[in-house]
Amino acid sequence: MKGTPVAYVPESFLFGGDYNPEQWGEDTWREDIRLMRRARVNTVTLGVFAWARLEPREGEYDTAWLDRVIEMLTEAGIGFFLATPTASPPPWFTARYPDALNTRPDGTLLAHGSRDTYAVSAPAYRAACRRIAGMLADRYGDHPGLRGWHVHNEYGTLDYGPHAAASFRRWLRARYADLDALNDAWTTSFWSQRYDEWDEILPPVATQYVHNPAQLIDFRRYSSDEMLAAFDEQVREIRQAGSRAPATTNFMLPTWNHLEQWSWASHQDVVSVDHYLDSNGPDGEAHVAYGSDLTRGWADGPWLLMEQNPTGVITSDRTYTKSASRMIRNSLGYIARGSQSSLFFQWRASVGGSEQWHGALVPHAGEGSRAFAATCELGTHLEKIGEMLSPPADGRLSAAEVAIVWHADSWWALETPHLPNDSLTYRDEVRGTHRSLWRAGIATDVIGPGADTTGYRVIVVPCLYVATPEFAAWLRAFAEGGGTVIVSYLSGIADESLRIATGGYPGMLRELLGIVGESIEVLAPDERVRLTEGIAGTEWSERIALEGATSLHDYAEGVLAGLPAVTQNRVGAGEAIYVSTKLDQDSRDAFLAAQMARVGVAPVLAGAAELGVEAIVRRGAAADYLFLLHHGEGAVGVSGRGTELLTSVDLEGGTVLDAGGVAVIRVARASDIVIAPMTPGEK
Ligand code: GLA
Repeated sequence: MKGTPVAYVPESFLFGGDYNPEQWGEDTWREDIRLMRRARVNTVTLGVFAWARLEPREGEYDTAWLDRVIEMLTEAGIGFFLATPTASPPPWFTARYPDALNTRPDGTLLAHGSRDTYAVSAPAYRAACRRIAGMLADRYGDHPGLRGWHVHNEYGTLDYGPHAAASFRRWLRARYADLDALNDAWTTSFWSQRYDEWDEILPPVATQYVHNPAQLIDFRRYSSDEMLAAFDEQVREIRQAGSRAPATTNFMLPTWNHLEQWSWASHQDVVSVDHYLDSNGPDGEAHVAYGSDLTRGWADGPWLLMEQNPTGVITSDRTYTKSASRMIRNSLGYIARGSQSSLFFQWRASVGGSEQWHGALVPHAGEGSRAFAATCELGTHLEKIGEMLSPPADGRLSAAEVAIVWHADSWWALETPHLPNDSLTYRDEVRGTHRSLWRAGIATDVIGPGADTTGYRVIVVPCLYVATPEFAAWLRAFAEGGGTVIVSYLSGIADESLRIATGGYPGMLRELLGIVGESIEVLAPDERVRLTEGIAGTEWSERIALEGATSLHDYAEGVLAGLPAVTQNRVGAGEAIYVSTKLDQDSRDAFLAAQMARVGVAPVLAGAAELGVEAIVRRGAAADYLFLLHHGEGAVGVSGRGTELLTSVDLEGGTVLDAGGVAVIRVARASDIVIAPMTPGEK
């Protein structure tokens, strides 16, 4: 679907968010526009959940209200993303097409009453989606205020019902062509699972005992592809109606993961993501960095932050207040890592409905609130930093020398049951790795297996359970060329059908790593095994013999005492390191920081992380921009050759960055700036 892969470069940072005017009357709309202008909002997203309002009865459209809202926005100079409302079919739809509702793995057929109640492969649902997308594109597709299409919302609703069964079988036929190939790939010779007819195959619905892992992962792949086909279909309708506006769908940053993001990204005109802090503590800031680095990786360039919560941090059972300072630091954090926008869910807080307590740019307290003042402050900031929107000629927004490999298949593989340790997740390993690098102040990219590795000195490979000879050759070529590869436990284990590579762990990466693993020694939930030189592992350990590698850390206790735990193998001009246990976070921090120092990967700004200041460089067409986000305590001094854009201060004379503050500095290079603690009495 993607047209020419050009970077998405708006005239100014997009600022605003989801606007759901169908909740209010025209008086409130007028008030909204006034406040949007006051806050310098330039973009809203309309219609995400407006299907019932737009099509109150099948085939009968009511767009007069939307015409009016768009007219008012346009008069005020505010652009809009138009959503296709297909994430929330109206009650008339599900009442008329009950077969288009989704079924859970346990067989429960869902009913309407919330949102996302649809079976993505149901023909009636797909037809209804095409119709409403086509109607909207016909009506608004060439509107001058239209910034782009927000197709659907957060694809990720899996279905296990009869329509899914039929389309899963079609997908399997396309993948395997004949049943012998499927039976072989799925090892159906075990437990008497051999299929003789395609129709015998089911989605992995509730069954007596453990599912077949190959069936499970194929169902995840199928679900991702099926949702992508539904996305593509809507984009096709939009294009057939003649609209040329860029199309995107908002990915959800994975705490769960239902998409193969690399393939999805190539179908987006610009990749967009929704990001919600998952922690009220300081790890929230590491989470912003993680989400942004992942999204920049998928986008391979600039991207859009489509939603964040302006005023709240929602955890499983309570919503904490997000301070104004945190909202601004986070918003600039996304931009520092490549976002072209600061968009939120939602503009005005709802008074009723399921999300009435969700944060908003205009909270229940209204215009006089500190939250709205923060909205206005952010709007002012964004207008001052627009010069960085164009990426540099080489397209690289970050100067990272380290890349983490991201692989949805391996995420899904680790979710299959009956692994030696089912408590391990791909997410924890990737996130823990990224967190360590973030804490050390080191810039990190995210890449897919087989990606271009130019410019990287280190590639970190967390739990790459699913491997191929091609992946192994790609990593070897990187190491041979002088790079450092750091591979974690649970990598190289299995082929794409989750069949284990025999002859010793880590299977397909054994030769690269110069080791052979004979057995896995899983640790108990609260067990910690000490390694030499003060680091420790949890959850997993392995009995490894060296086959060319040397040991960097041995196990210092337990059944593996004296045996290698972390190894290093010289490969051509570079090396491949294996970490055979799940290092606890402190150990991981220490280990990765030491490795980075050893190979000469420096933090973005020396001394910043120690002061609680996050330093990020965003490369632009004309200059580099150093973002300083002060998450710590106490004022710090900043000086050097550069101009701070929010205050227009030339830093030769130095400036003070207060706790909670932000600075955006135009620099020739980050090392032109010095950061230092304030000496008592200095301020
Ligand atoms: C998602 C959705 C929004 C809203 C927010 C709440 O990101 O896209 O509609 O429900 O979550 O955090």
